[in-house]
Amino acid sequence: MIFDVLTIFPKIFASPLSESLLKKGLDKGLIQVRVWNLRDFAEDKHRMTDDYPYGGGAGMVMKPEPVIRAVEAIKEEDPDAKSALLTPQGERFHQGLAKRMSAHKHWILICGRYEGLDERVRMAVVDQEISIGDYVLTGGEIPALVLIDAVSRYIPGFLGGEHSVEEDSFSQGLLEYPQYTRPPVFRGLTVPEVLLSGNHAQIQRWRRRESLRRTFQRRPDLLERALLSEEDLTFLRDLRNQKEMAGQG
Ligand code: ADE
Repeated sequence: MIFDVLTIFPKIFASPLSESLLKKGLDKGLIQVRVWNLRDFAEDKHRMTDDYPYGGGAGMVMKPEPVIRAVEAIKEEDPDAKSALLTPQGERFHQGLAKRMSAHKHWILICGRYEGLDERVRMAVVDQEISIGDYVLTGGEIPALVLIDAVSRYIPGFLGGEHSVEEDSFSQGLLEYPQYTRPPVFRGLTVPEVLLSGNHAQIQRWRRRESLRRTFQRRPDLLERALLSEEDLTFLRDLRNQKEMAGQG
Protein backbone atom coordinates (compact mmCIF):
# COMPACT_ATOMS: atom_id res chain seq x y z
CA MET A 1 0.00 0.00 0.00
CA ILE A 2 1.45 3.35 -0.98
CA PHE A 3 0.64 6.71 0.60
CA ASP A 4 2.07 9.69 -1.24
CA VAL A 5 1.78 12.69 1.05
CA LEU A 6 1.91 16.22 -0.35
CA THR A 7 2.80 18.85 2.24
CA ILE A 8 4.82 21.96 2.87
CA PHE A 9 5.84 20.57 6.29
CA PRO A 10 7.38 17.16 5.56
CA LYS A 11 9.17 16.99 8.92
CA ILE A 12 5.83 16.57 10.75
CA PHE A 13 5.73 12.98 9.47
CA ALA A 14 9.14 11.80 10.70
CA SER A 15 8.35 10.99 14.31
CA PRO A 16 4.94 9.28 14.01
CA LEU A 17 6.30 7.02 11.28
CA SER A 18 9.38 6.06 13.26
CA GLU A 19 7.71 4.24 16.15
CA SER A 20 5.58 1.21 16.85
CA LEU A 21 3.36 -0.45 14.26
CA LEU A 22 3.71 2.19 11.57
CA LYS A 23 7.47 1.77 11.70
CA LYS A 24 7.12 -2.02 11.60
CA GLY A 25 4.72 -1.79 8.67
CA LEU A 26 7.23 0.37 6.81
CA ASP A 27 10.14 -1.94 7.69
CA LYS A 28 8.18 -4.99 6.54
CA GLY A 29 7.24 -3.24 3.32
CA LEU A 30 3.52 -3.56 4.06
CA ILE A 31 3.15 0.17 3.67
CA GLN A 32 5.19 2.75 1.88
CA VAL A 33 4.87 6.41 2.85
CA ARG A 34 6.50 8.91 0.52
CA VAL A 35 6.43 12.46 1.82
CA TRP A 36 6.75 15.07 -0.90
CA ASN A 37 7.61 18.69 -0.21
CA LEU A 38 5.26 20.84 -2.28
CA ARG A 39 7.92 23.50 -2.48
CA ASP A 40 9.84 21.17 -4.78
CA PHE A 41 6.96 21.43 -7.24
CA ALA A 42 6.88 25.22 -7.23
CA GLU A 43 8.25 26.80 -10.38
CA ASP A 44 9.17 30.34 -9.36
CA LYS A 45 12.60 31.09 -8.02
CA HIS A 46 11.36 31.64 -4.44
CA ARG A 47 9.53 28.30 -4.57
CA MET A 48 6.34 29.94 -3.32
CA THR A 49 3.45 27.66 -2.45
CA ASP A 50 1.00 30.30 -1.22
CA ASP A 51 -0.30 33.69 -2.28
CA TYR A 52 -2.82 36.38 -1.29
CA PRO A 53 -6.50 35.58 -1.76
CA TYR A 54 -8.32 37.22 -4.67
CA GLY A 55 -11.04 39.45 -3.25
CA GLY A 56 -9.00 40.23 -0.16
CA GLY A 57 -9.29 38.90 3.36
CA ALA A 58 -6.98 37.53 5.99
CA GLY A 59 -4.40 34.83 5.44
CA MET A 60 -2.92 33.11 2.47
CA VAL A 61 -4.17 30.58 -0.04
CA MET A 62 -2.17 27.64 -1.36
CA LYS A 63 -1.36 28.12 -5.01
CA PRO A 64 -2.81 25.59 -7.45
CA GLU A 65 0.24 24.83 -9.61
CA PRO A 66 2.55 23.01 -7.16
CA VAL A 67 -0.22 20.73 -5.85
CA ILE A 68 -1.61 19.95 -9.30
CA ARG A 69 1.84 19.33 -10.71
CA ALA A 70 2.68 16.95 -7.86
CA VAL A 71 -0.58 14.97 -8.15
CA GLU A 72 -0.25 14.73 -11.92
CA ALA A 73 3.34 13.49 -11.65
CA ILE A 74 2.26 10.69 -9.31
CA LYS A 75 -0.80 9.79 -11.39
CA GLU A 76 1.32 9.67 -14.51
CA GLU A 77 3.46 7.03 -12.82
CA ASP A 78 0.41 5.14 -11.50
CA PRO A 79 -2.92 6.01 -13.18
CA ASP A 80 -4.74 3.99 -10.48
CA ALA A 81 -3.54 6.29 -7.68
CA LYS A 82 -6.43 8.09 -6.02
CA SER A 83 -6.16 11.49 -4.41
CA ALA A 84 -7.72 12.58 -1.15
CA LEU A 85 -7.71 16.14 0.13
CA LEU A 86 -7.73 16.50 3.91
CA THR A 87 -10.11 19.30 4.76
CA PRO A 88 -12.76 20.05 7.40
CA GLN A 89 -15.20 20.32 4.47
CA GLY A 90 -14.75 16.67 3.48
CA GLU A 91 -16.69 13.50 4.17
CA ARG A 92 -16.37 12.57 7.84
CA PHE A 93 -13.75 9.89 8.40
CA HIS A 94 -14.89 6.76 10.25
CA GLN A 95 -13.98 3.09 10.61
CA GLY A 96 -16.03 2.03 7.58
CA LEU A 97 -14.29 4.57 5.37
CA ALA A 98 -10.88 3.40 6.65
CA LYS A 99 -11.81 -0.13 5.62
CA ARG A 100 -13.06 0.95 2.21
CA MET A 101 -9.91 2.99 1.60
CA SER A 102 -7.73 -0.01 2.48
CA ALA A 103 -9.12 -1.80 -0.58
CA HIS A 104 -7.39 0.76 -2.75
CA LYS A 105 -3.62 0.32 -2.94
CA HIS A 106 -2.36 3.79 -3.74
CA TRP A 107 -3.45 7.04 -2.11
CA ILE A 108 -2.21 10.56 -2.65
CA LEU A 109 -2.92 12.59 0.48
CA ILE A 110 -3.03 16.33 -0.04
CA CYS A 111 -2.42 18.34 3.11
CA GLY A 112 -3.93 21.80 2.90
CA ARG A 113 -2.60 24.69 4.96
CA TYR A 114 -3.29 28.33 5.64
CA GLU A 115 -6.77 29.60 4.90
CA GLY A 116 -7.20 26.98 2.24
CA LEU A 117 -6.38 25.75 -1.15
CA ASP A 118 -7.14 27.32 -4.49
CA GLU A 119 -10.50 25.83 -5.55
CA ARG A 120 -9.09 24.73 -8.91
CA VAL A 121 -7.03 22.02 -7.17
CA ARG A 122 -10.32 20.38 -6.15
CA MET A 123 -11.69 20.69 -9.66
CA ALA A 124 -8.58 19.41 -11.38
CA VAL A 125 -7.13 16.57 -9.34
CA VAL A 126 -9.05 15.72 -6.14
CA ASP A 127 -10.97 12.41 -6.13
CA GLN A 128 -12.18 12.58 -2.55
CA GLU A 129 -12.30 15.03 0.37
CA ILE A 130 -11.96 13.79 3.92
CA SER A 131 -12.42 15.44 7.31
CA ILE A 132 -11.35 13.72 10.52
CA GLY A 133 -13.93 15.60 12.59
CA ASP A 134 -15.83 18.81 13.13
CA TYR A 135 -12.96 20.95 14.32
CA VAL A 136 -10.33 22.96 12.52
CA LEU A 137 -6.67 22.00 12.75
CA THR A 138 -3.69 24.00 11.55
CA GLY A 139 -3.39 21.80 8.49
CA GLY A 140 -4.04 18.45 6.87
CA GLU A 141 -0.82 16.80 8.11
CA ILE A 142 -2.18 15.35 11.36
CA PRO A 143 -5.39 14.24 9.62
CA ALA A 144 -3.23 12.50 6.97
CA LEU A 145 -1.39 10.64 9.73
CA VAL A 146 -4.70 9.65 11.32
CA LEU A 147 -5.85 8.27 8.00
CA ILE A 148 -2.58 6.40 7.31
CA ASP A 149 -2.78 4.84 10.77
CA ALA A 150 -6.43 3.78 10.57
CA VAL A 151 -6.21 2.48 6.98
CA SER A 152 -2.93 0.58 7.54
CA ARG A 153 -4.51 -1.43 10.35
CA TYR A 154 -6.60 -3.20 7.69
CA ILE A 155 -3.57 -4.48 5.79
CA PRO A 156 -3.11 -8.20 6.48
CA GLY A 157 -0.10 -8.72 8.76
CA PHE A 158 0.10 -5.09 9.83
CA LEU A 159 -1.17 -5.63 13.36
CA GLY A 160 0.83 -8.81 13.87
CA GLY A 161 -0.03 -11.61 16.27
CA GLU A 162 -3.61 -12.68 16.66
CA HIS A 163 -5.11 -9.25 16.68
CA SER A 164 -7.86 -8.79 14.17
CA VAL A 165 -9.10 -5.38 13.20
CA GLU A 166 -12.59 -6.87 12.95
CA GLU A 167 -12.60 -7.29 16.73
CA ASP A 168 -12.00 -3.60 17.34
CA SER A 169 -14.30 -1.06 18.70
CA PHE A 170 -16.41 0.23 15.79
CA SER A 171 -15.61 -2.62 13.41
CA GLN A 172 -18.66 -4.36 14.77
CA GLY A 173 -20.36 -1.06 15.36
CA LEU A 174 -20.00 -1.29 19.15
CA LEU A 175 -17.63 0.14 21.74
CA GLU A 176 -15.12 -2.24 23.25
CA TYR A 177 -15.63 -4.19 26.48
CA PRO A 178 -13.45 -3.34 29.52
CA GLN A 179 -10.06 -5.07 29.75
CA TYR A 180 -8.12 -6.15 32.83
CA THR A 181 -4.65 -7.50 33.51
CA ARG A 182 -2.75 -8.43 36.68
CA PRO A 183 -2.93 -7.83 39.62
CA PRO A 184 -6.30 -9.43 40.42
CA VAL A 185 -6.93 -6.86 43.17
CA PHE A 186 -5.69 -3.29 42.92
CA ARG A 187 -6.55 -0.79 45.68
CA GLY A 188 -9.51 -2.93 46.59
CA LEU A 189 -10.79 -3.05 43.00
CA THR A 190 -11.24 -6.58 41.76
CA VAL A 191 -11.24 -8.14 38.31
CA PRO A 192 -14.68 -9.51 37.32
CA GLU A 193 -14.87 -13.15 38.44
CA VAL A 194 -15.86 -14.47 35.03
CA LEU A 195 -12.54 -13.37 33.48
CA LEU A 196 -10.66 -15.58 35.94
CA SER A 197 -12.97 -18.56 35.35
CA GLY A 198 -11.29 -19.95 32.26
CA ASN A 199 -14.74 -20.57 30.81
CA HIS A 200 -14.32 -19.23 27.30
CA ALA A 201 -17.99 -19.25 26.33
CA GLN A 202 -18.95 -17.33 29.46
CA ILE A 203 -16.14 -14.84 28.93
CA GLN A 204 -17.29 -14.21 25.37
CA ARG A 205 -20.85 -13.68 26.55
CA TRP A 206 -19.75 -11.29 29.31
CA ARG A 207 -17.61 -9.30 26.87
CA ARG A 208 -20.42 -9.00 24.37
CA ARG A 209 -22.78 -7.76 27.05
CA GLU A 210 -20.28 -5.23 28.41
CA SER A 211 -19.75 -3.97 24.84
CA LEU A 212 -23.48 -3.54 24.49
CA ARG A 213 -23.76 -1.87 27.91
CA ARG A 214 -20.97 0.62 27.13
CA THR A 215 -22.41 1.45 23.76
CA PHE A 216 -25.88 1.86 25.25
CA GLN A 217 -24.55 4.19 27.95
CA ARG A 218 -22.06 6.23 25.93
CA ARG A 219 -22.94 6.02 22.23
CA PRO A 220 -26.55 4.85 21.82
CA ASP A 221 -26.46 6.33 18.29
CA LEU A 222 -24.14 3.47 17.26
CA LEU A 223 -26.72 0.84 18.16
CA GLU A 224 -28.92 1.88 15.28
CA ARG A 225 -26.35 0.63 12.76
CA ALA A 226 -24.77 -2.25 14.72
CA LEU A 227 -25.25 -5.89 13.76
CA LEU A 228 -27.25 -7.33 16.64
CA SER A 229 -28.45 -10.85 17.46
CA GLU A 230 -31.74 -11.75 19.13
CA GLU A 231 -29.81 -12.24 22.36
CA ASP A 232 -28.23 -8.77 22.02
CA LEU A 233 -31.65 -7.21 21.47
CA THR A 234 -33.08 -8.92 24.54
CA PHE A 235 -30.16 -7.69 26.64
CA LEU A 236 -30.60 -4.14 25.33
CA ARG A 237 -34.33 -4.27 26.07
CA ASP A 238 -33.46 -5.21 29.68
CA LEU A 239 -30.99 -2.33 29.91
CA ARG A 240 -33.62 0.06 28.61
CA ASN A 241 -36.20 -1.22 31.11
CA GLN A 242 -33.72 -0.91 33.97
CA LYS A 243 -32.99 2.66 32.95
CA GLU A 244 -36.68 3.54 32.83
CA MET A 245 -37.29 1.96 36.24
CA ALA A 246 -34.35 3.90 37.69
CA GLY A 247 -35.76 7.09 36.17
CA GLN A 248 -39.13 6.53 37.81
CA GLY A 249 -37.65 5.55 41.17
N1 ADE B 1 -7.53 20.33 8.05
C1 ADE B 1 -7.81 21.16 9.08
N2 ADE B 1 -8.73 20.63 9.88
C2 ADE B 1 -9.04 19.40 9.37
C3 ADE B 1 -9.92 18.35 9.74
N3 ADE B 1 -10.70 18.45 10.81
N4 ADE B 1 -9.97 17.26 8.97
C4 ADE B 1 -9.20 17.16 7.87
N5 ADE B 1 -8.36 18.11 7.46
C5 ADE B 1 -8.27 19.22 8.20
